[in-house]
Amino acid sequence: MPASSTSDRFSMPLGEAMYNMRAIRRLKPDPVALEDLRDIVDAARQAPSPSNRQSWHFLVVQDAEQRAKLGAIYREAWWAKRRDEGFHKPEDFDPNDKVRMSAMRLADHFGDAPAVILMCADSSAMVDTTGVIPATQNLLLAARSLGLGATITSLHPSVMDDVRALFGMPEGTFVVYAIPVGYPQGNFGPVTRKPLNEVASLDRWGEPLPEA
Ligand SMILES: Cc1cc2nc3c(=O)[nH]c(=O)nc-3n(C[C@H](O)[C@H](O)[C@H](O)COP(=O)(O)O)c2cc1C
Repeated sequence: MPASSTSDRFSMPLGEAMYNMRAIRRLKPDPVALEDLRDIVDAARQAPSPSNRQSWHFLVVQDAEQRAKLGAIYREAWWAKRRDEGFHKPEDFDPNDKVRMSAMRLADHFGDAPAVILMCADSSAMVDTTGVIPATQNLLLAARSLGLGATITSLHPSVMDDVRALFGMPEGTFVVYAIPVGYPQGNFGPVTRKPLNEVASLDRWGEPLPEA
């Protein structure tokens, strides 16, 4: 298959993809075609990286048993991160904090996602995890273009040995982001972001960019 035919699949206008790509944490259980997962990973690997080293590895997890085990590890990691922040149980959270509530729900259902893509750094990344970030955004945009929802999540260092053992990952590699992927239960929608004049300047910090 010529390389161009994969890129042709991602035909959604870029503006639509970028402006309507919310974090999708509730996923339908419907399976995602392996072809689609392969193609979004192919889009990920087109991303730039430091010195073009491509110190990454994309581990597509589709097997139900592996997903269930990863789900249990994710839950443990999520609570390990919360404990680091001083939270120990669900009642410690503000119930009006929608992102937190949604993230906690995801922690309980992570293994139910029809697929999870582990965005890993290989040993040549030398603990510099930033190189995998552009590939992650490519993957999210490509998924959006195919009508697939996804969310960036991260694990906790305390579970990394368990994840390496579960997936036979070599020493020196680690998971930078774990991305559940599937068809959304809700809708994609416009993102909520700070206004442009709060986050951008012209020529000197604080000098406003002219309004459109
Ligand atoms: C680097 C990074 C790490 C994130 N980690 C998590 C996470 O561990 N769990 C989670 O549920 N969402 C995670 N998110 C998703 C953010 O919470 C989400 O993108 C943000 O709240 C904006 O939501 P929206 O895009 O739906 O507007 C992460 C996002 C980024 C960019």
